[in-house]
Amino acid sequence: MAQQPFHMGWFVMKGYGPKGWRNQWGGPNPHGWVKPDLLVHLAKELERAAFDYVMIEDSCNVPYTYKNSHETYLRLAVDSPKLDPSVLAPFMMQATSRIGIITTLSTTEYNPFLLARLTNALDHVSDGRAGWNLVTGSNDGGAQNFGHERQFPHDQRYDMADEYVELVQKLWDSWDADAMVIDQENEIFADPAKVRPVFHEGKYFRSRGPLSAPRSPQGHPVICQAGGSPRGRQFAARWADTIIASAGSVAAMKAFRDDIRQQAVAAGRNPDHIKIMFLIAPIVDEFMDSALARKQARLKEAETHIEFHLANMSRVTGIDFSKYDLDEKLPELTSNGHLSVAKGYSGRTPREIVMQGRSLKDVDLVGTPERVAAQMAEIMAEVGGDGFLVMDPEFTRRYITEIADGLTPALQKMGLVRKTYEHAMLRDNLRAF
Ligand SMILES: Cc1cc2nc3c(=O)[nH]c(=O)nc-3n(C[C@H](O)[C@H](O)[C@H](O)COP(=O)(O)O)c2cc1C
Repeated sequence: MAQQPFHMGWFVMKGYGPKGWRNQWGGPNPHGWVKPDLLVHLAKELERAAFDYVMIEDSCNVPYTYKNSHETYLRLAVDSPKLDPSVLAPFMMQATSRIGIITTLSTTEYNPFLLARLTNALDHVSDGRAGWNLVTGSNDGGAQNFGHERQFPHDQRYDMADEYVELVQKLWDSWDADAMVIDQENEIFADPAKVRPVFHEGKYFRSRGPLSAPRSPQGHPVICQAGGSPRGRQFAARWADTIIASAGSVAAMKAFRDDIRQQAVAAGRNPDHIKIMFLIAPIVDEFMDSALARKQARLKEAETHIEFHLANMSRVTGIDFSKYDLDEKLPELTSNGHLSVAKGYSGRTPREIVMQGRSLKDVDLVGTPERVAAQMAEIMAEVGGDGFLVMDPEFTRRYITEIADGLTPALQKMGLVRKTYEHAMLRDNLRAF
């Protein structure tokens, strides 16, 4: 049965940070992570595989939520340290010509004018392939680096972000597409009539404008969002071109997508303009046996380094998981950080959560490329679209090759993903099907 193709992206866990530094296949130079080479390699390989985009995750602090200390975070490199992703992105853009590069930038850390300018510049240098992963911050330690005592309340952060995006979009629109005439004969660089101040005076932000840079190829760089709470979904349905979705089962994926599409219609948007990408961490290998052995190794790794995972769970929720028994069910949790994540932990034991990791409850994406491709096809047929975001806790060149050269050709042979890009710019490729 012919099936609508789906989109593929890659979620770079731990951002521009150390990758696979204690993994057997992590490479000969563990100190090399500060250079862009590995992530440039990723972008090139995924462009060969015609992926829509690479999303570089980020956070801007050395956390100390777990055991009230930064000890575990630094000793095991738990989401720290990280270099600035907007410095990395241009290297990845320069080395490629079609794939989208999405950079995480927080509305509670960046001033809106600065962010509008930065994302506009990234869109210029990439010829229209830039995206902004719009996050609102979650960890109080992050807020403290920017002069606050803690994060603003969860839902208020989204209210602020609504106004923030309105302002950023006004700044992006403050130059008409044809304002930069560069008429050498008459000595006119830009047509002043086609550039307007924005005079934004809002509840949270003020800015005069116009932007100090001409309109970029996409005009509006692509907006990516990942909020899973009710307020987060409402926000994403209003603004996002693509959504990073985390769901534990096929039914939950379908419910998430249906909900977003319904809210998008209610907000007056075309739901097909939002591509919902589900996080997966597939294991592909030549044989079923070897793939299963890899899965066992991944589980053993999680068991052996359980504090790594507990520290990460603490970081994103603001809850210190060292205070809970590993094998006792957690109470009903709430969070001023990742609310949807905290809700998902409630009623499960910390050990269960760690061992489940990113795998789906009902489909184990483990096996030969053909088998995993067929499983992905089944999931998408059930969910209705729109695609997957590959993430890998190990992140090595070997894993990149397995996805680009093993899984992708299997998906292509089944007609499930594109073989070549339809367009030059990111949003156009996202909307191509
Ligand atoms: C899969 C996933 C990836 C995320 N990546 C980032 C990130 O890179 N940086 C960040 O500050 N927040 C990140 N977030 C946080 C969300 O953007 C959002 O701020 C947070 O989940 C709180 O929203 P919620 O309570 O609506 O789920 C991520 C969330 C999810 C679920």
